[in-house]
Amino acid sequence: VVDIRKLYDQADVFTFDPGFTSTAACESAITFIDGDKGELLHRGYPIEQLANKSTYLEMCYLLLYGELPNAAQLADFEHRVTNHTMVHEQMHNFFRGFRRDAHPMATMVGVVGAMSAFYHDSLDINDEWQREVAAIRMIAKLPTIAAMAYKYSVGQPFVYPKNSLSYSGNFLNMCFAVPAEDYVVNPILAKAMDRIMMLHADHEQNASTSTVRLAGSSGANPFACIAAGIACLWGPAHGGANQACLEMLREIGTVDRIPEYIAKAKDKNSGFRLMGFGHRVYKNFDPRATVMKESADEVLELLGIHNNPTLQVAKELERIALSDDYFISKKLYPNVDFYSGIILDAMGFPTSMFTPIFAISRTVGWIAQWKEMIAEKNQKIGRPRQLYVGEKQRDYIDVKHR
Ligand code: ACO
Repeated sequence: VVDIRKLYDQADVFTFDPGFTSTAACESAITFIDGDKGELLHRGYPIEQLANKSTYLEMCYLLLYGELPNAAQLADFEHRVTNHTMVHEQMHNFFRGFRRDAHPMATMVGVVGAMSAFYHDSLDINDEWQREVAAIRMIAKLPTIAAMAYKYSVGQPFVYPKNSLSYSGNFLNMCFAVPAEDYVVNPILAKAMDRIMMLHADHEQNASTSTVRLAGSSGANPFACIAAGIACLWGPAHGGANQACLEMLREIGTVDRIPEYIAKAKDKNSGFRLMGFGHRVYKNFDPRATVMKESADEVLELLGIHNNPTLQVAKELERIALSDDYFISKKLYPNVDFYSGIILDAMGFPTSMFTPIFAISRTVGWIAQWKEMIAEKNQKIGRPRQLYVGEKQRDYIDVKHR
């Protein structure tokens, strides 16, 4: 690791690194990834242990404050979150301004950004208490906002949060309860949802987290920064891959059409990529994908789904890709988004909700990283340089002579 700032001061050194493949933009103590070993640690704890033993809210505490909570700390944190899940009645008007068929991610970018037009008492980034209130508000209210965006998009009434339910159970209830019927949250599905959230909670300096940090480095308020992160997450190369992946599996439709898509993915001129495959950092396997695959098997077993065509295509695609020379040589393994869409589909979520669920889960990671950055002593505004390739200086020509 070379600290380029020192070289830059001493000589005229300038680095060109499009896509930041080998440039660290910050120091962080939150998440460690070893892409070659396929290892992911949060505050030192392996993701596999957290996913099997912890809960999403406990993991939120760990990411935000650096240590696992004791029982009293956890109870207090859970109470603080579950008591901030309501959004103000006036905020309902934000939703009504959108077209009925708006994508829930579009609505979320707008509504989360608009929280800064609403919660004026938690905008001062230099006030530790206000930063804390903003953090709790976002962790607590993002599921409510995502569920409202969904309900609005399908023309159903909003369902108010129930503080007696778990974080994930409450989210399922807000999405699936309808006034005409009784809805009881299935504890196994709530656990599976909690696991999906844990597996997406943080992933060091990915595109959306870097966006949040860059926005925050200018002193922008936390709601604006998280809205920027949500916008970045939406892209199909990042969080939008879970929606794109399931849509691709459905488009393939039957197992016999897979070779056609594999051939397209290998053809550089096709512009086509197999969604849910590949990762910038993991060049062995994505440890989240392994846990997610186990969860997918459990949920499908529970729901008695064995032979649906999408699942058959997914399993065969995974088998072929893992034994195909091209995919092996390029180290393209199924990533977390390959399996999460299968579980969410089985739970009854439409594809348009896949990325919003990722956004809910990642909110804590974004906030933890934002808080870490704000707390730095000599925090600098993020300001990448460029390699200019445009025209050299030239003289202005009056319009009548052009
Ligand atoms: N299908 C086919 N070929 C691929 C794929 C894919 N999904 N991903 C990468 N490749 C190939 C590229 O064509 C390239 O080939 P080359 O060396 O011959 O030029 C090589 O593998 C390396 O690809 P890059 O684009 O340089 O890798 P990068 O690290 O920039 O991209 C990314 C990583 C964006 C995840 C990429 O693999 C991709 O587009 N995957 C599909 C989308 C996806 O699933 N995204 C989710 C990521 S996980 C997450 O955000 C939670």
